[in-house]
Amino acid sequence: MSEETLSTLLKEERKFLPRKEVIERATVKDWEKVIKEAAENPLKFWEEAAREMEWFQKWEKVLDDSNKPFFRWFVGGKCNITVNAVDRHLKTRANKVAILFEGEPGDVRKITYAELHKEVCKFANALKNLGVKKGDRVTTYLPNIPEQAITMLACARIGAIHSVVYAGFSKEALRDRIVDAEAKVVVTADGTFRRGKTILLKPTVDEAVAACPSVEKVVVVKRANADVKMQPGKDFWYHELVAKESGECKAEVMEATDPLFILYTSGTTGKPKGVVHVHGGYMVGVHRTMKWIFDIKEEDIYWCTADAGWITGHSYIVYGPLMVGTTTIMSEAVPDYPQPDRWWSMVEKHKVTVFYTAPTAIRAMMKNGEEWPNKHDLSTLRLLGSVGEPINPEAWHWYYRVIGKEKCPIMDTWWQTETGMILITPLPVSPLKPGSATKPFPGIIADIVDGSGKSLPANQGGFLVIKSPWPAMMATIYKDPDRYVQTYWKKLPGDFYVAGDVARRDEDGYFWVQGRADDVLKISGHRIGTMEVESAFVSHPAVAEAAVVGVPDEVKGEVIKAYVILKAGQKSSPDLAEDIKKHVRKELGPVAVIKDIEFRDKLPKTRSGKIMRRVLKAEATGKPIGDITTLED
Ligand code: WTA
Repeated sequence: MSEETLSTLLKEERKFLPRKEVIERATVKDWEKVIKEAAENPLKFWEEAAREMEWFQKWEKVLDDSNKPFFRWFVGGKCNITVNAVDRHLKTRANKVAILFEGEPGDVRKITYAELHKEVCKFANALKNLGVKKGDRVTTYLPNIPEQAITMLACARIGAIHSVVYAGFSKEALRDRIVDAEAKVVVTADGTFRRGKTILLKPTVDEAVAACPSVEKVVVVKRANADVKMQPGKDFWYHELVAKESGECKAEVMEATDPLFILYTSGTTGKPKGVVHVHGGYMVGVHRTMKWIFDIKEEDIYWCTADAGWITGHSYIVYGPLMVGTTTIMSEAVPDYPQPDRWWSMVEKHKVTVFYTAPTAIRAMMKNGEEWPNKHDLSTLRLLGSVGEPINPEAWHWYYRVIGKEKCPIMDTWWQTETGMILITPLPVSPLKPGSATKPFPGIIADIVDGSGKSLPANQGGFLVIKSPWPAMMATIYKDPDRYVQTYWKKLPGDFYVAGDVARRDEDGYFWVQGRADDVLKISGHRIGTMEVESAFVSHPAVAEAAVVGVPDEVKGEVIKAYVILKAGQKSSPDLAEDIKKHVRKELGPVAVIKDIEFRDKLPKTRSGKIMRRVLKAEATGKPIGDITTLED
């Protein structure tokens, strides 16, 4: 990695203080104080968090760091995450809705905690009868339906390791992930609904599984009533299997350090990495962040719009919400089908109080215009969240004003598949600065360093690193521990986790993520993160979304090529391009040399909605693209 630091171009000066009502209901009232106390003794902080959970047997040691970077949390402790996600609620909220599902066609299903317990046990028993044992891997290729969550929990219940593959991935991507995990069983559905059409999933699984010798059985959930081929002895209907099973299944006693799941995440090159998370630490870290950041109380209805196939879904649709005993919404629905107000109609109908989504969705909604959310009563909302990419200040303001009606704090949560839990985030009482994820969560020590690993002063951009281990941290890369060490602990000199993002910290200690280190632009010797340049584009009134890449320039090194999506009703023209250029230069100064603006209807994105700048860069420069199995279109 380079020695140089990043320039700061964008200064967002606006600051939002918490309202009285927010402070009154907050679990944590004094943010700075809690951060300070936790920093004095992080292990004590996490041990207290662990005491809030149910364990079969208490840990002997909070943290074993004798074999860095293979940190082991709550060593000697015995637990099962499903006891905390399901069983513990049977005493106090058995008849409360645990999972509220709304399908794409509008069908609604409500599953109480008592029912969830029964369903999880039944399918856990069914998996056992199919020959699944502790430590075996089960791959799922399912829509965002309750059976996805039930399957994850059923695996965890019996100590099997789930590997959820997002059901939008191709058969090749699915095959590679099954092969790497050597899964014994695959759980899928006949199909799912998307934009009014039935999408078949089972045939994709058939093709993938044909090249996967480890797979013995395939379980199929009937979702779409589609006519799919079932191979006798190998393929089983989910509903037929569970009909025969008992609704009681004892939770397997797991070591805190036993694996809970593998989730594949792709880097820029090479094969996807199987990120491994474990029962104990993951349980503690996800529970504490869920409880404090979203400030969940008994009456909340919580909706995270991600798909359970991503880490956001694992931690904050399934495990986190269920561990705190809230009602978690799962949905197949996309934001703009049948109309651009689909999600808002759901917020109104289900009286959602906490809404957690991604900047890509917010920008898409800005593009469609505020008349769509304005058709609905969103007054039940009290807290908003954002995750997955830096949120541009302009999108933040729109979200705050149009969706939150200037009364809901926005939790801009920075984290990764690898971190398992949110690491940099405000709490509801934090003063907010649009575009900043604010400060590390209590107990987390983050820093910004240069290429030699040296800590940087305020407002100098550099590499974002985490200097203290945290409970939900990944344990390793499945079957490739060396890659884990090389990718996250050896890129820079120093004793810390390297996140791969570039960021700066301002004079108040607030963190501003500037983009992925791989995407950094280099203009006239200045290194500039993509976030700030794109935010300047998005702050032009006609622009909904923008992606920038650096293209070679003889004089400047690199100059900016921008791809721009306009808001609904705007027409592209050379005059508009000139006007946008002028606006961006005014915002960022003369360093931002824009070579060219290209108007587009769409940007290449990953299936989880992140802009894939290297695809645009390859197009603009004629360089090779690298791995594009995660590309959406
Ligand atoms: C980016 C998603 C800025 C970042 C949970 C990170 C963010 C990558 C934010 C991980 C945020 C996520 N602000 N950037 N609030 N949240 N990112 O593994 O680049 O899908 O490294 O995990 O998303 O993506 P992943």
